[in-house]
Amino acid sequence: MGKKRKIYERIELTDLGDKGLCIGRDEKGEVVMVNGGVPGDVVRALSKRKRKGVAQGQLLKVLEESPHRCEPICKHFDDCGGCKWQHLEYSAQLEYKNKIVLNAIRRIAGCDPERVEAPVPANELTFFRNKLEFTFSDKRWITLAEAKDELNIKRGGALGFHRPGAFDKVVDIDECWLQKDPSNSIRNFVKKYAVDKGLTFFNLREHNGLLRNLMIRTGRESQLMVLLSFGEEDKDAIEALLKSLIKNFPQITSLFYVINTKGNDTILDLPLHHFFGSQYIEEKLNDVVFRIGPKSFFQTNPGQAEVLFDLALSFADIKNDSLVYDLYCGIGSISLMAAKAAKKVLGIELVPEAIQDAEINARLNNIDNVEFIVSEVEKILDDSFFNQKGKPDIIIVDPPRAGLHKNVVEAINNSKVEKVVYVSCNPSTQARDIGLMKNHYSLERIRTVDMFPYTSHIETVALLKIK
Ligand SMILES: C[S@@+](CC[C@H](N)C(=O)[O-])C[C@H]1O[C@@H](n2cnc3c(N)ncnc32)[C@H](O)[C@@H]1O
Repeated sequence: MGKKRKIYERIELTDLGDKGLCIGRDEKGEVVMVNGGVPGDVVRALSKRKRKGVAQGQLLKVLEESPHRCEPICKHFDDCGGCKWQHLEYSAQLEYKNKIVLNAIRRIAGCDPERVEAPVPANELTFFRNKLEFTFSDKRWITLAEAKDELNIKRGGALGFHRPGAFDKVVDIDECWLQKDPSNSIRNFVKKYAVDKGLTFFNLREHNGLLRNLMIRTGRESQLMVLLSFGEEDKDAIEALLKSLIKNFPQITSLFYVINTKGNDTILDLPLHHFFGSQYIEEKLNDVVFRIGPKSFFQTNPGQAEVLFDLALSFADIKNDSLVYDLYCGIGSISLMAAKAAKKVLGIELVPEAIQDAEINARLNNIDNVEFIVSEVEKILDDSFFNQKGKPDIIIVDPPRAGLHKNVVEAINNSKVEKVVYVSCNPSTQARDIGLMKNHYSLERIRTVDMFPYTSHIETVALLKIK
């Protein structure tokens, strides 16, 4: 018999912490991080393993409801894990995001929290994503509701999202609020077609089965790309499915498929088969047109990306004689927008394919005052690089979650460049870097732009000025 797990009879949840977990205290005053609660709730919870020495609890019952609690809009909320904060009113989501930024600036950066400005809310709370990736699995996640009612458990395959913490289980989704239609109709059509025709769903442990992944990309100008990944090369079954998709969804403007028999779902290293329509879709961000292929990275919430980049560019206040560096430039979204105002922009990015896209997009928009370099920023940014390429007036950085490499911080500190605009998707590492720069740069402004409502993801833009 397994060890009986402890029940916390009463935990008062007081705050939101890392990864959207609630911080609470049990009857003895010990801190417990609870999954699924809302600050202000009093809950009963099942104790789970400690993480980094902190007790973890799984919510069992809400004993007293927080005034910030609201009804989730999605019927898959309890199982999916994609939009973890749907039970928290939107104004409270923003308040908690801002609190996390305030704490990071005060405690990690050691800077004045007065510099933190009110967050910019999202324009749209639903249907804001332009890309979703669904997974097929021959093992459906048994939902919490089904588990309670043992007689009505539906077995069989699923097409949806991975259940958090269970790599081989997929939550079957028939309604998602993240991407506008026909995204829902296409996903449900593919699943029904597969079941009707007896096509096999992928087994994520044994790596066999035909249907593996479905990616749907929607453009704001009614363009639509679909990419299907198959785990086996059954040409007849694949062609019949793709033809049926085109027939039933005239909205599809671009259709690809790929055979992926590898141990992982990544298709970036695999040749794609172009089956129908255009090779790409196009999307506009602030008057710059971007050509997006099936493997291209692109901002997933284009509406809020415009708001984020507008804010970054207003912080940068670029003049027509400015030389601007865009470090970690990706496909050059910021570089190309900045180039419209600047004398010249130089973008540096690690991924060659992203730079190829950036160069294509520069040509497409007749922008010729940009230069892109493929490299790790930390390997080339130093005094001799500044001497060779010119010392910039403004440096814009948009690093991955890990933040800036220490060599990059050092190079910026030594450069004495007038202004640094720091776009970030991780307030902790951004605050760490701002702290490492504070002897040379003062934090003038920092503001959150809410890109992903109902999640704990935070995007911020900070303006630093030379002291
Ligand atoms: C947050 S994204 C920036 C996206 C970009 N602003 C855009 O809109 O396309 C971070 C980028 O940094 C790149 N990257 C990660 N590590 C890097 C490094 N050491 N040097 C240069 N680029 C890096 C990633 O490939 C990614 O494109």
